[in-house]
Amino acid sequence: MATLKCLRWYSLPLNSTRPSAKFQSSYLSRLPRSSIRCKSGPYGYTQAKALVYSKHGEPSDVLKLHTHSISPSIPSSSVLVRTLAASVNPADINTVQGTYGSEQPMSSLIGTSEPSAVPGNEGVFEVVSTGGSSSSLKKGDWVIPAAQQIGTWRTHAVFGANDVLKVEKDSLTPTQVATVSVNPCTAYRILREYGPSAGLKTGLPMRPLELGGGEWFAQNGANSGVGRAAIQFGKLWGLRSINVIRDRDSMEETEALRQELIGLGADVVVPESQFLSREWKDQLAEMTRGGREQVGLGLNCVGGKSATALARSLGEGASLVSYGGMSKQPVALPLGLLIFKDIRFVGFWLSKWNQKDPVGRKHMVDDILNLMRLGHFKDVPVDEIEWKWDTEEAALKEAVQGTLKGFRKGKGVFLFGDT
Ligand SMILES: NC(=O)c1ccc[n+]([C@@H]2O[C@H](COP(=O)([O-])OP(=O)(O)OC[C@H]3O[C@@H](n4cnc5c(N)ncnc54)[C@H](OP(=O)(O)O)[C@@H]3O)[C@@H](O)[C@H]2O)c1
Repeated sequence: MATLKCLRWYSLPLNSTRPSAKFQSSYLSRLPRSSIRCKSGPYGYTQAKALVYSKHGEPSDVLKLHTHSISPSIPSSSVLVRTLAASVNPADINTVQGTYGSEQPMSSLIGTSEPSAVPGNEGVFEVVSTGGSSSSLKKGDWVIPAAQQIGTWRTHAVFGANDVLKVEKDSLTPTQVATVSVNPCTAYRILREYGPSAGLKTGLPMRPLELGGGEWFAQNGANSGVGRAAIQFGKLWGLRSINVIRDRDSMEETEALRQELIGLGADVVVPESQFLSREWKDQLAEMTRGGREQVGLGLNCVGGKSATALARSLGEGASLVSYGGMSKQPVALPLGLLIFKDIRFVGFWLSKWNQKDPVGRKHMVDDILNLMRLGHFKDVPVDEIEWKWDTEEAALKEAVQGTLKGFRKGKGVFLFGDT
């Protein structure tokens, strides 16, 4: 963020479609000419828009569409980028609501009347220009955020070159690249890091699931972005999965979702009504050869009764990794699972892991993008939110608010058109 301080930003009136001639003559005419991208303003100024919030609350109440102008003279260590696609994840909404585990810093750097922040943690940008010729980035490159909470819900931005990570764009779509760094990475990391604690018997810490060993893991929220990714990695890595979904309005719809997940590589898909029923214990025993093949890992992103049932489905020494709480219900765990089954209850936060191992993160992103290129990893279903220059604030806010509803057809992703 330090590099942003070096920039000169000029705020424009909210909801303006283009800067007025009066504005341009009063603010812009004194400024230097440049050859960088010039959408509509003279002298190389880039006209940009960003969704911002200056206080926490429901997205529909607190988000504003702010128009501003980006100077052509950017610091040598920076890049000017244009957003191609940016996803709307539950964590972004929680951050705006003020209920997430970390807060975004607020500032007036883009000329908002009050200190504000641009939400969005995930997206893909095209480099428009670089501040210095020594930059390893060049015009036309695609980059994703390297830093956390960089603010992706905007048409353009100036970022520090170190705050972005170049990706090879060949054979990939903006949506694929925009959705790689949060959900698939979370599934990838959890499956690699946690597993049955057979190692505990020899005094070792938890060991990962043995890849290729056909070991079982179970997860709720299985149709989420993370869940779909876990199913696919599990299949690719020789693991077997039990996947819990919420019942749809009709049996046909539930069955259609079940088939969709089977198509991704799920071994078992269970509607929540079955998972929470008395019969589930026996059904699970049957699937796991009378309990001889124990479930070594649970992935919980729901909480409440679903998490308790997930914990009860695990075998001795297994790990239950909680990474989300979509039901907003606390997790209640029977003590017997701790005492007699020695189950490990841990949490996972990708941001922390990324900070600890940025090199590992780059390898992981490259690995996943390569699987996408090869057609071994299917795209998450997407609910496209078109964002053009003249898209109105109300439409964007409504689209963001809409992602809070359950039973959605796809993940909300801003796709930027003519901005
Ligand atoms: N800790 C981390 O590092 C990390 C990283 C990525 C994601 N996450 C968390 O993982 C969770 C899933 O994220 P995502 O982006 O993969 O989700 P997503 O693709 O947006 O899908 C949302 C999922 O939540 C379910 N859901 C929605 N409302 C629910 C409710 N009231 N009760 C139970 N389930 C509900 C949906 O099921 P229906 O289709 O049945 O509505 C769907 O499976 C979120 O909590 C997110 O914050 C955490």
